[in-house]
Amino acid sequence: MSRKVAIFDTTLRDGEQSPGVSLTQREKLEIARQLARLGVDVIEAGFPIASPGEKESVQLIAEQVGGQEGPVIAALSRAVEKDIQVAGEALKPAKKKRIHTFIATSDIHMQYKLRMSREQVLDAAVRAVQWAKNFTDDVEFSAEDATRSDPQFLCTVFEAAIDAGATTINIPDTVGYALPHEFGALVRTIFQKVPNIHKVAFVSVHCHNDLGLAVANSLAGLLEGANQVECTINGIGERAGNASLEELVMTIYCRGSALGLHTDVRHDQIIRTSHMVRDFTGMVVQPNKAIVGANAFRHESGIHQHGVLSNPLTYEIIDPKVIGLSGTGLVLGKHSGRHALEQKLKEMGYELTKDQLDSVFYSFKALADKKKEVTDADLETLVADVLSAVPREQTIYHLDYMHVVSGKGTVPSATVRIRCNGQEKLASETGVGPIDAVYRTIARLVEEEHRLADFQVRSVGPGTDAVADVVVRIEDTDGRTFVGHGVSPDTIEAATKAYLEALNRLAYHRRQRISLPQRGGEV
Ligand code: KIV
Ligand code: ZN
Repeated sequence: MSRKVAIFDTTLRDGEQSPGVSLTQREKLEIARQLARLGVDVIEAGFPIASPGEKESVQLIAEQVGGQEGPVIAALSRAVEKDIQVAGEALKPAKKKRIHTFIATSDIHMQYKLRMSREQVLDAAVRAVQWAKNFTDDVEFSAEDATRSDPQFLCTVFEAAIDAGATTINIPDTVGYALPHEFGALVRTIFQKVPNIHKVAFVSVHCHNDLGLAVANSLAGLLEGANQVECTINGIGERAGNASLEELVMTIYCRGSALGLHTDVRHDQIIRTSHMVRDFTGMVVQPNKAIVGANAFRHESGIHQHGVLSNPLTYEIIDPKVIGLSGTGLVLGKHSGRHALEQKLKEMGYELTKDQLDSVFYSFKALADKKKEVTDADLETLVADVLSAVPREQTIYHLDYMHVVSGKGTVPSATVRIRCNGQEKLASETGVGPIDAVYRTIARLVEEEHRLADFQVRSVGPGTDAVADVVVRIEDTDGRTFVGHGVSPDTIEAATKAYLEALNRLAYHRRQRISLPQRGGEV
């Protein structure tokens, strides 16, 4: 009999703490919906005290995703009454809600960050759990920096938190310092030395990847009896990130009998979820990343190709279809109608509103006109583009006209006309290349002070007619980041769309004077 491992996804909380990542409310909601489709047990939707915008996002997810049967919606709070109050309010609409409260237990954190004594930390932990119980029965307590804490003190804090009503205790390797055998031993000690440990529903592990050991450490903890693992899609998160959900889940899938573990994740949603998180956060996935990297199922050498053709098991330990990677994924062409597209998207697991479907259909037609074959990967990119697009009412700059000159022996130049508040603006510039020329021209036309922080182009599929997916990240003068996305078989057009989208986000926020979620400081 294998033991079930509960998957606690923290992409929207710890993952969103990745440097340079800032998701919009719509994007967070779409990711939460996709996580529910993926079948995770808990979605940590955010850290509501961080800002009013963050609280609203958690509330929206609690309402729209947590309003029906499905995952538990969790919200993070420090062991502070005000944080817990705000988390409790944000989670109210959810059917199944969890307050996740934490305080550091290592001497270094207590002395230099919290400036609290052990007694004060113990007291704060107990009071936090008791206070959280006013909002929900389901309370998780985390001892931040557990792996660098005095194990004796750590056990005392866990025992007190459980007595106060914690139903989950979480053991974080906050700085990714532990080695697998050490982490396993710590989990074993906690099972042995915390006398009321049997009263909790979950003993959870939460590992960071500073030494590339997050997945190995998590597995070591699970093998010692932990039954919940905290992880993120594509392993995104603070610094080197968190344990990657897809690696954990697929290791458990692939080696389940050796581990004696299983999860309830719907594996065929893994690749789509990974792509959505990549597209919305703008954080590219390294090609050789296990499970979801572009090369994870590619075979280059002749010997390997021959083996795989004769029998895939020669070099493939997982059938790529299991994670939702379908063969060539050839689907629709320019004669396909709206109905065919709708059917196909349904088959792919998307539930789009009529407006969203209209927009995808419009982009699909434009693409099918330029490109003979529209693949699953193309459709996925188009859907991501529509779901993350700046809503029409927030669009300040519209692209009207663009002419680009480039070639050997010419100075690359661009002429761009945009519309802004009913006014037309036209300019021309030269650059080191055509995209540089377009960007310089646009920068002259807009009012926003900013700098380009990142620019990435990805080809969706092989061939010179492949769709280009461009992600641009710009920074305003306060260091806030805005991401824009552009998709087109014409790379220059994709780059232009992406830049204007990022600028529209910046312009909208500047005009609304909306304060973006601040990073969770000491989290
Ligand atoms: O890494 C960490 O310690 C955390 C806690 C808030 C659980 O993210
Ligand atoms: Zn963490």
